[in-house]
Amino acid sequence: MTDKQVMLTGLQPSGDLHIGNYFGALKPFVDAYQNFQSYLMVVDYHALTSLRDPAALRANTISAVKDYLAAGVDPEKVVLFKQSTVPAHTELAWIFDCLVTVPFLELGHAYKDKVAKGLEANAGLFTYPMLMAADILLYDTDVVPVGEDQRQHIEYAREAASKFNNAFAKLFKEPKEAILPGVGVVPGTDGKKMSKSYGNTVPLFGSREDIAKAVMGIVTDSSGDRPENVYAIHKLVKNESELTALYEEKKGKYKDLKEALIDDLDAYLAPMREKRASITDADVTAVLEKGGAKAREVSEAKMKEVRRAVGVA
Ligand code: TRP
Repeated sequence: MTDKQVMLTGLQPSGDLHIGNYFGALKPFVDAYQNFQSYLMVVDYHALTSLRDPAALRANTISAVKDYLAAGVDPEKVVLFKQSTVPAHTELAWIFDCLVTVPFLELGHAYKDKVAKGLEANAGLFTYPMLMAADILLYDTDVVPVGEDQRQHIEYAREAASKFNNAFAKLFKEPKEAILPGVGVVPGTDGKKMSKSYGNTVPLFGSREDIAKAVMGIVTDSSGDRPENVYAIHKLVKNESELTALYEEKKGKYKDLKEALIDDLDAYLAPMREKRASITDADVTAVLEKGGAKAREVSEAKMKEVRRAVGVA
């Protein structure tokens, strides 16, 4: 192996992506992963805490892998795999479940939010953080690049590591979160955070027509010369000195500026869109098989020590 630090992250297989996902998660990963020994995993067992649609789970899993490959991840340089194909994850999660207390898990945001909405959480959602801890700790992960919303989960992983290390043997490294630099919050077409649930997205792999439709829907107001919501998205795909000139020249001409944004977005996104269209399901299967074999090799070595330490072997 290398002496590089280990970086690992998990992706929810959640369907069609928008440019907020790209600038907030895919791009930061693609920019950073080659500096690490990297693992990228589709967390299909985590998805099962909220999804009961086998066809959708299968399709979304393949789709998530295509998204990352199209965004520039080279499968030769990362261990890219599907969580469910590596049994060590659920096995170690069970051991962590036996170490943490119910009141500790009751503080989990995802669980608390569910209960606060008056909904019944399943036991999988309740113990979700321990499966995630297993994901991370099996590979001696140093860095976990995640969004702000996942910070608590990394703390839970550190807690699981320290509980295990104190109870049995010092086998686990305590990971750090890395809220990756770059674009923090990507603004949507209404100026709020871009999010599927707000319906304010620009599709990442949509056609030029799809992009045009989203851009034409950007909310503008007439209070200034510069349509801020147009500019904020434009800034993601064009450098600011070019933009300053353009917005000066087209001052007050919102329609022209939107058309320029459509052209620039399309030029930026077209290569990824074409690359994605060229990736077959069979390509994805081959990548996941190879990644799964590697992940099983690394995690199984760790599990041998774990089983011995807890006394089942
Ligand atoms: N909980 C993460 C999310 O919702 C997904 C995830 C699962 C993950 N396992 C992980 C992220 C391990 C980083 C590392 O986005």
